[in-house]
Amino acid sequence: MQKTLALIKPDAVAINATGEIIKRIQTKGFRIKAMKMTRLSLEIAEDFYDVHKGKPFYDDLNSFMISGPIVAMVLEKENAIKAWRDLMGATNFKEAAEGTIRKDFGSAMEKNAVHGSDAPETAAREISFFFSKMELVG
Ligand code: CMP
Repeated sequence: MQKTLALIKPDAVAINATGEIIKRIQTKGFRIKAMKMTRLSLEIAEDFYDVHKGKPFYDDLNSFMISGPIVAMVLEKENAIKAWRDLMGATNFKEAAEGTIRKDFGSAMEKNAVHGSDAPETAAREISFFFSKMELVG
């Protein structure tokens, strides 16, 4: 079993897509180990996306990520990292496959509805960013 971090971003929360996205996650057989709604400060967003520091989209991405509440979840499944990325679809919603979350709810390069960890090391960092061990109760 593998764990990954999933975020429902401010754009998807704002259009009330949270319930539909969680439904798709559960229908695909992920266990939700932990979940919270929160709003990031600029400092926390910049730290979370530290790997993108210096890229042209870094400032816009952080401004967007603090623009409203997000939902953070820890998902568990066999090969959860890839399975969640498959369910999300391509980063650019215009290139996302039919039936993926980004295809259905994305509206811009930043506003792509959801985030997922891209590797086991990133998943470990991102999970501990939002949740303590004690909060992984699901
Ligand atoms: P996410 O999976 O959260 O990881 C980084 C985010 O940066 C990405 O989704 C997009 O929302 C955003 N982003 C904006 N522009 C780009 C770009 N040119 N390439 C990759 N990610 C981008």
